[in-house]
Amino acid sequence: MNLPDMNEAKKRHRENVEYIYTDVVKNNKYKDKKYFIKTYGCQMNVHDSEEISGLLENLGYTRVESELDADLIILNTCAIRENAHDKVFGFLGRCKHLKKDKKDIKIVLCGCMAQEKSVVDEILSKHKYIDLVLGTHNIHELPNYLTNLQDGLNIEVKSNEGNVYEIGENYHRDSKYTAWINIMYGCDKFCTYCIVPYTRGKERSRRSKDIIKEVMCLKEKGYKEVTLLGQNVNAYGTDNEEEMSFAELLENVAKTGIERIRFVTSHPWNFTDDMIDTIAKYDNIMPYIHLPLQSGSDRILKLMGRRYTQEEYIKLYKKIKEKVKNAAITTDIIVGFPNESDEDFNETLKVVEECQYDGAFTFIYSPREGTPAAKMSDSTPLSVKEERLQRLNEVVNKYSNMNNQKYLDKTVKVLLVGESEKDSNKLYGYTETMKLVNVECDKKLIGQIVDVKIAEAKSFSLDGYHEK
Ligand code: SAH
Ligand code: SF4
Ligand code: F3S
Repeated sequence: MNLPDMNEAKKRHRENVEYIYTDVVKNNKYKDKKYFIKTYGCQMNVHDSEEISGLLENLGYTRVESELDADLIILNTCAIRENAHDKVFGFLGRCKHLKKDKKDIKIVLCGCMAQEKSVVDEILSKHKYIDLVLGTHNIHELPNYLTNLQDGLNIEVKSNEGNVYEIGENYHRDSKYTAWINIMYGCDKFCTYCIVPYTRGKERSRRSKDIIKEVMCLKEKGYKEVTLLGQNVNAYGTDNEEEMSFAELLENVAKTGIERIRFVTSHPWNFTDDMIDTIAKYDNIMPYIHLPLQSGSDRILKLMGRRYTQEEYIKLYKKIKEKVKNAAITTDIIVGFPNESDEDFNETLKVVEECQYDGAFTFIYSPREGTPAAKMSDSTPLSVKEERLQRLNEVVNKYSNMNNQKYLDKTVKVLLVGESEKDSNKLYGYTETMKLVNVECDKKLIGQIVDVKIAEAKSFSLDGYHEK
C-alpha cells in the first residue's frame, strides 16, 4: 500500500486559501435594516463577531445596541461549559417572544454551539422559530445565506473546515486602538475535557504574509496594539512545513514597529526557548503571558492529556520569569476534574503558591458531551468542588492583590482605551503587563500610551494619574 505523502498533503493544504477581498456592493434590500449581535465565549468569538458585523454592514445593515430595535438578532455562542449553553437558551426564549410581535425579525444562532449535534437536535425539536443556524467554518458565507434565506429553519453547519479564507479589512473592529488578529484556527490538542477541537476543527494557520500585511494596515490606521489569536499559538505554522514558526512570526510582527503586541493562548507544551528569547528581545512584545495550568497534579494532567508534568510546568514558568523582565503571568485552572482527590487538588494549590500568579481564571469542570472526560465516572460531589473552587480563589486573589501592590507609587505606561465605567471623569487602560488601570487625565488622551503614576492598588485594578 502506498502511504500518503504528508508533505504533498501539507502543501495542498497551504494552497487552500481563499481571498474574499471583494467589497460587497451595498444592497438596497438591507438599507434600513438593523442588526443586534450578542457574543459569548473567548476572544476568538469576539473577533468572529467583528467579522460578522463587518459582513452585515457591507450588506447595508446598521448596528443597534438592543435586541428590541433589531430586524436581525445574531447570537454568537460558546460551548465550553454547560452554563454557556443555558444562558443562550435563556436569551433565545426572549427572542421567541419578540418574534410574536414582530414576525419578520430574523434570528441567527452561530458560534461553537452550532457545531454541536445535540444543540442542532434540540433546535430542530424545540426552537424552530430560529431562522438560521450557522457553523464556525462558514461564517464568511453569511451574506449569501441571508440573501437566500428560505422560510423556516435553515441549517448551514459544515463538519469540514474548508479553506482558510481572507476577508481583508472587512471587519467591524470594536476598538480604534487595539485589534484582534487571528493567526490560526482550530485546535489539535484534544485535551480530554475540552470541546474546542470538535467545534473549531483542526489546526489551520493563516499565511504569515497575510498576517503581517494585516498588522501593517492596522498600524497605518493608527492602531497601537494587536493581539494574535489562536487556541494554541505555539502550534502556529506546524500544519504547513513551508510556513514559519510562532517565534519567527512574533519576530516579524515585532519588526513592523507596531507599538504593542500580545498573543493568546500559549500552551505550556512546546513553549520553545525561541519564543521566550523573542519575547525578551523586543520591547514591543508585551511582557504578559497567559499560561494555562489546568491542574497541578501529574495524575490529573495525564488524564487531561495536557502533555506536561507539574515539574515541567514550573520549570517553564521560572524560565519565562527569569528571561522576560517583569513578566506578568496569568493562568486557567479547572477544579473537580473526574475523581480529583484532595491530594490532587492540594497539588494545584501548591503550584499556585509557587507561581504566585498575577491572576487566574478558575472553573469547575463541566462535562461536555462527546469528549473523553465526559465518559469518565466521577464520584466527587458538587459541594466538594465548589468548596475547592472557593479555596483556590482565595489563594489566587491573595497573589493577584500582592502583585498589584508592587505597582504602588510606580510610573507605568498605560494604553488608554475608553471611559471608565465607574467614573466618567476617568479613562481606563492597560499596562504592558495587562493590568487594568483607571486614570485621572485629559479625555483627549484616549488612544494614547501615557505615563501613569499609580496611587492606589486594589485586588483587580489600579488607580492612578497622568504624569506629564
Ligand atoms: N486554548 C486554550 C483554552 C481555551 S478554553 C488553552 O488551551 O489554554 C478556556 C479555558 O476554559 C481552558 O483553559 C480551561 O481552563 C477551561 N475549560 C475548557 N473546557 C472546560 C470544561 N469542560 N470545564 C471547565 N472548564 C473548561
Ligand atoms: Fe481545548 Fe486543550 Fe485545545 Fe486549549 S489546547 S482549546 S484546552 S483542547
Ligand atoms: Fe467557547 Fe468556542 Fe471560544 S467553545 S471558548 S467560543 S472557541
